[in-house]
Amino acid sequence: MLETDPLSEALTTYGGRCGISGGFTAGEGPWAVRFRGGRQLPVIVRGPGWLLADGAAPERLENEGLTLPSGRVPFVLASDPGVEPRDADQLLHSRPGLIVPLGGEQMVGLIRQAGSGPDERLLDALPPVVRVRDAPAVRYPIDRIVHELSRRAPGFAHITEQYAQALMADVLRSVLDSRDLADAGWLRLYADAELWPALALIHDQPAESAHRHGSPLGLLGPFYLPGAPRLEPPNVMPRRPDEKGETLIFRGAVHSTTGEPLPAAEFDMWQADADGNYSGMVPGIPPWNLRGRFGAAADGTFEVTTIQPAPYPVPGDGPIGSVLRELGRHLYRPAHLHLQVTAPDHEVLTIQLYFADGDYLASDAANAVRDGLIVPVELTGDVRIATYDFVLEPLLTE
Ligand SMILES: [Fe+2]
Repeated sequence: MLETDPLSEALTTYGGRCGISGGFTAGEGPWAVRFRGGRQLPVIVRGPGWLLADGAAPERLENEGLTLPSGRVPFVLASDPGVEPRDADQLLHSRPGLIVPLGGEQMVGLIRQAGSGPDERLLDALPPVVRVRDAPAVRYPIDRIVHELSRRAPGFAHITEQYAQALMADVLRSVLDSRDLADAGWLRLYADAELWPALALIHDQPAESAHRHGSPLGLLGPFYLPGAPRLEPPNVMPRRPDEKGETLIFRGAVHSTTGEPLPAAEFDMWQADADGNYSGMVPGIPPWNLRGRFGAAADGTFEVTTIQPAPYPVPGDGPIGSVLRELGRHLYRPAHLHLQVTAPDHEVLTIQLYFADGDYLASDAANAVRDGLIVPVELTGDVRIATYDFVLEPLLTE
């Protein structure tokens, strides 16, 4: 599997569909098209022409340029600034999904479908007009989309969507390359080399592949330490004699996607304490506190006894904190257990699990909580019992 990065994760997680709703080609004779604005319909264009945005001076678009007016303000695309524009909605929506010829092929405009990926937060961070510097890299997908939409051969919708997705990624990448990142809001998280690890922390949500059937994947995050003590049954996590927090029994089973139990599975588990702190990260906590490795039983089940971890905030004083504040979000992550599960001939599963009765599940600062990662909790006296069945993907063999 390829290593991933935050922008890829965002595009994959949120941008599963990035449709093109239609477009036009233009060139011969004077023409002009007015777009009404509103960010739901960004337009991708290339070719020579004029961009007339409300409140801005007319701007000449050169042949090698590609722009993406993100559509927040009304604008006109024209061969000549003096031409009376036609309305894009009437022009394009009269023939949805089609390429409308305006007389030639010197300029190409593509209208992105309303509400289709990538993450709207990414689009919110774009300036009104994006200039893509590396035009050859995006020229081919545009030409191909126009070709597909014009020809409508079998499979055209699928192919169009794939190229649209790649096109959006290139546009976003171009913005990340060129933009003053101090002013890029949320988007800067995807670009800044120093911020990537921090983003991985708060955005601890992996790309979900449609081809996986195992438990959802996660990232190790910054609080993992290799080499935790090996526990023996009954598995009790290392803890201080006066460790605060309710007793938590975490139990369940581990299976392959084919349904067979995996008794050779090994677990590496780490968690915050009842104050939301990790050993090895915060002074004063004994080494390896609430970190341990243990094995599955002969029937592929497992059980470990620990304490209930607490929610904790992501760092609020750095850039992550300022971005979350910009977005009007709190800094807390819901309480969770980190696990890495291995078994022979199976992919490593790195995962974070949340508690069904926990706080912040719907507003995780890391936006990482998903169905399938929330464990039910049963209360028996003073003891909390959480249950989860892990499913590991078999390794692909040649
Ligand atoms: Fe954590």
